[in-house]
Amino acid sequence: MDKIELENQLLVHAFDYAAIGKAIVAVDGALLKVNHSLCHLLGYQESELLKLSFREITHPDDLEIDQSKLSLLLEGKIHSFHTEKRYVHKNNDEIWALLSLTLVRSNQGDPLYFVSQIQNITDLKLAEKKVYEGEKRYQRIVEESPDAIIILRKGRCFFINEAGVGLLGASAKKDIIGKSIYEFIDHSDYGKLQNLVENKIRSESVGPIEERFVRFDGKEIDVEIKTIPTIYKGQPAIHAIVRDISERKQTQELMINSEKLTVAGQLAAGIAHEVRNPLTAIKGFLQIMESELKDQKMYFDIISSEMNRIEMILNELLVLSKPQQISKYSQGNLKDILEQIVTLLQTQTNMNSIEIITKIEPNLPLISCDENQLKQVFINFLKNSIEAMPKGGAITIEVQSKNSESLIVRIVDQGHGIPEHILKKIGTPFFTTKENGTGLGLMICNQIIEQHKGKINIESCSKGTTIEIDLPVS
Ligand SMILES: Nc1ncnc2c1ncn2[C@@H]1O[C@H](COP(=O)(O)OP(=O)(O)O)[C@@H](O)[C@H]1O
Ligand SMILES: [Mg+2]
Repeated sequence: MDKIELENQLLVHAFDYAAIGKAIVAVDGALLKVNHSLCHLLGYQESELLKLSFREITHPDDLEIDQSKLSLLLEGKIHSFHTEKRYVHKNNDEIWALLSLTLVRSNQGDPLYFVSQIQNITDLKLAEKKVYEGEKRYQRIVEESPDAIIILRKGRCFFINEAGVGLLGASAKKDIIGKSIYEFIDHSDYGKLQNLVENKIRSESVGPIEERFVRFDGKEIDVEIKTIPTIYKGQPAIHAIVRDISERKQTQELMINSEKLTVAGQLAAGIAHEVRNPLTAIKGFLQIMESELKDQKMYFDIISSEMNRIEMILNELLVLSKPQQISKYSQGNLKDILEQIVTLLQTQTNMNSIEIITKIEPNLPLISCDENQLKQVFINFLKNSIEAMPKGGAITIEVQSKNSESLIVRIVDQGHGIPEHILKKIGTPFFTTKENGTGLGLMICNQIIEQHKGKINIESCSKGTTIEIDLPVS
């Protein structure tokens, strides 16, 4: 074998035995020469392939791209190109390949034929497709989740699902996307969340932790957040599940309150019993003494009226412990009830330079109520007002009919008011801000008004407090 022959043979081998598919393609697209790898890749015998043109082995959807690049090549605008395209296997399977195409020209510059290299990338494409489908599936799960889900990147909302839009009370996703998560958070809780959404160790999930969110309408809600590191659109991100737990929290609070209430009731009942017994003894002895000290009648009258009052209070404490059973309902006139209360508190208001102004609408309808209990309510409210006005001032009591079904009693004072953070707690048994307070007054009011199917609304600012009591007419 001479040198040239040897060289030719080497070239033929380099073509025939190359691990990737190779073909020499005529300018009209006919396959002039193909190697083993290409035959194997497309499932044809060499003789079969040589009868076909490149069009017949190309996936119909990918013909278009080839044509445009081919023209560029033929026009001499490019020398070669690489492209990803699909071929069709003899058994009709789709084959993904990376095609590199070069045009060989004659010495005169006329196109002679194409040299093409075809590398199988089907497995790679399948893997890519799997990732893509996985991501699509993830997006769907996120979108359809009944829990609010926010995908965060560097603390910013990158994606939010419909449930999230609802939770935050926004009108559309675009109101939220791009915003920092901190915009929705009650600022006192800032630090806790920072750890959650910017955690350095992004391989672990964090939470659930409790937070307070401020909705678009300004309403605050309690939420529970759990964050999980994830990949979203090919980039690391944080998948945050946000659950509204306001209702759960409220129920919890109610349960704690009613628990405290039971304890308060039991205490009250215990005390009432303990005090009633010695009281009976005192009353008995007083009666004996009264008959012997007839000239002191005036004192005895005062003592016995005070004793009656003590007894009444004790009975009320008992009412408190078993509120449903002992109330005595009758048709009551609010005007009379309020006037009696104002008289009763006169000494105290005079001492504190407080004037009570009553504005009672004439001809009010009667209400079905337990008079003593309602008196208790008004006394409790008025005492609070008096206690809030150490420098004196005016307390206005207004009564009007709201509609055919209810009356409104408004007690407006000029006291120091109730700060916002305290407003939430008042009415809880034993909650007081006063040195000698019991913290039971408002709780009793709430309970009694609730039994009368009424409603209490308290509004307060630094200039005073307004109590509004809504009572149904009978
Ligand atoms: N009219 C009012 N003005 C200011 N603060 C009030 C008023 N009414 C109630 N409060 C606040 O509510 C708390 C609870 O009231 P209450 O249940 O009657 O218990 P107490 O009067 O024994 O403290 C009070 O300690 C006070 O801080
Ligand atoms: Mg009070």
